Amino acid sequence: MNYRHSYHAGNFADVLKHVALVSTLLHLRKKDKPFAVIDTHAGRGLYDLGGAEAEKTGEAEFGIERLRGLATGNAALSTYLDIAKSFGADRYPGSPLIAERLLRTGDRLVAVEKHPEEFAALSAVLKGAKPVRADGYERLPALLPPPERRGLILIDPPYEAPDEFEQLARAFASAYRRFATGIYLLWYPLKARQDIDSLGGELRHAGATRLLALTLDVGKQTNAPDERLSSAGLFVVNPPFGFDVEMRGAMEEILPLLRQGPKASARVDWIEGEAQK
Ligand SMILES: C[S@@+](CC[C@H](N)C(=O)[O-])C[C@H]1O[C@@H](n2cnc3c(N)ncnc32)[C@H](O)[C@@H]1O
Repeated sequence: MNYRHSYHAGNFADVLKHVALVSTLLHLRKKDKPFAVIDTHAGRGLYDLGGAEAEKTGEAEFGIERLRGLATGNAALSTYLDIAKSFGADRYPGSPLIAERLLRTGDRLVAVEKHPEEFAALSAVLKGAKPVRADGYERLPALLPPPERRGLILIDPPYEAPDEFEQLARAFASAYRRFATGIYLLWYPLKARQDIDSLGGELRHAGATRLLALTLDVGKQTNAPDERLSSAGLFVVNPPFGFDVEMRGAMEEILPLLRQGPKASARVDWIEGEAQK
């Protein structure tokens, strides 16, 4: 394993993903009925922004650190910032800890992490749920449909494997067959447009009819290392009512603060003309 999320925690891509996660969870909380959150690639849960790995890349400086002082009326963004800041100035919560904060009694988190060190760290910081040590793609079918019949599936792989897009598309197709009414958040780095377009095509082919793409491009800084990611997004299947509007508002607010280069942009697109229902 080479990938360690500690190098990237709190960067602009985490900000986008985690605001979307919060927006979805706030929606699920609107009904009393319990829901499940399945996080297939959960990570270590809590990241040390003062640690050697985070300091080496400095990515959080261009992400969460630029937002700490923001006062906003956008519910998803302000809830996300409150949660992030509640862990202290040098720490950043990952998706399972953010989700855990928004669960009510009766709601359930299943956090799956494959790698032993990350899994051990996650086990130590989760308050309620016991994480699952497994391959998230392999474990997912057995978790669906959740008994609650309401839920959110976050698939946030490291994109280390050359066929990660294909693995993700296959995992989604199999999950969607079992749980077509679930909300799916599928994260991706945007390096080659073609990969994203073909992933979108695969999701449609698997049956996703309500499909939204969020794209945040912070622009390339002239002196940034070539390998530093500057554009990332999420496919959202079955986005809740009003999610697109809330996310557009949040992304428009954070873009000026996260902008690194002249070509920065934020987009919320329904795929193949699907209108909000
Ligand atoms: C991008 S990080 C996850 C970040 C986390 N979702 C968050 O938002 O805070 C990806 C994680 O997936 C783990 N991982 C890699 N391959 C996996 C697999 N097949 N199944 C489950 N976890 C895996 C890595 O160890 C890493 O911790």
